[in-house]
Amino acid sequence: MSDQSSVNPMRQAIEKAQASALLAIKTVSDLPALRSLSADLNKKDSPLNALKTELGKLNSVDDKRTMGQLLNSASIAVSAALDIRTGEFEQSEISARIVREAMDLSELVTNRRRGHSHIVTQATMRLEDVFIGLGFQIAEGPEVETDFNNFEALNMPKSHPARSEFDTMFLEYGEPGSVLLRTHTSPVQIRVMQSWPPPIYAIMPGRVFRRDTPDATHMPVFHQIEGLVIDRGITFAHLAGTIEAFTKAFFGRDFTSRLRPSYFPFTEPSAEFDIRRQDGEWIELGGCGMVHPNVLVSSSIDPEEFSGFAFGFGIDRMAKERHKVEDIREMYTNDLRFVKQF
Ligand code: PHE
Repeated sequence: MSDQSSVNPMRQAIEKAQASALLAIKTVSDLPALRSLSADLNKKDSPLNALKTELGKLNSVDDKRTMGQLLNSASIAVSAALDIRTGEFEQSEISARIVREAMDLSELVTNRRRGHSHIVTQATMRLEDVFIGLGFQIAEGPEVETDFNNFEALNMPKSHPARSEFDTMFLEYGEPGSVLLRTHTSPVQIRVMQSWPPPIYAIMPGRVFRRDTPDATHMPVFHQIEGLVIDRGITFAHLAGTIEAFTKAFFGRDFTSRLRPSYFPFTEPSAEFDIRRQDGEWIELGGCGMVHPNVLVSSSIDPEEFSGFAFGFGIDRMAKERHKVEDIREMYTNDLRFVKQF
């Protein structure tokens, strides 16, 4: 039989102990305080634990069971509250740490100084865009070339007088005079013709080298862009039309181009092409012509079946024109006061 006189005070004591433990857990201010509270609550003589020893003093088995269950669920409620509160403190500690350790990168972002491409690179990229728009593909070749690709295959055998116009820098490599720094981008024509079957619509930008003394309009290292078209039925009209379309696309509608008869060993007929500025002045831009049959043959293309045209011009000069640079040497001194203008 239940002994109400001893059970009721015990039930009250359990409820009171539970309530005060839960209140203490709720009002504790930080994690260290919670940890010491938790240690206190787990001590043998904590109010709830002390009540467990009281259980034995109850007479009725029913009362022992009921009060035991009550004590048990009170302990579970308290330890659950401890776990939850610990979790809360840990979470806010993490959030506080994120805030505390956050790095302020705003200064880096606002003060960053962005560089930009060199004006010759800018011009090259624009040229590539224009020619890609006209249906051309881009090809590249090495700066160190063989005499064969730079001269021989371009219809300039060893004795050819035109060779002397290309103030060539030779490398001390292999047979004397057999390896050189390419004097123009035309050897890339040979490489393209030897590796792609026609039809070919390609442009080949790159760096070229000549034994030249730097002055306002010349540098010993400069840039060219080569164009090559090989297909059936290509005529000089296609060449003139391409040059004109390119001139307008690159420089603007109010620019126009003209071709003047000229001579290159690798084209026949050959021409020099000029563009006319808004102020009416003509600027010489490069050379062009119909690919010489000997050049086609040296690249195993049948001149009876295919014909084509080629052109090549200096990119540095175009960048110089476009940005109204007085002296081409300024483009290569890396003076920031100059570079930052573009
Ligand atoms: N390679 C010539 C030069 O450097 C230019 C050119 C290219 C001429 C293609 C005709 C055809 O002067």
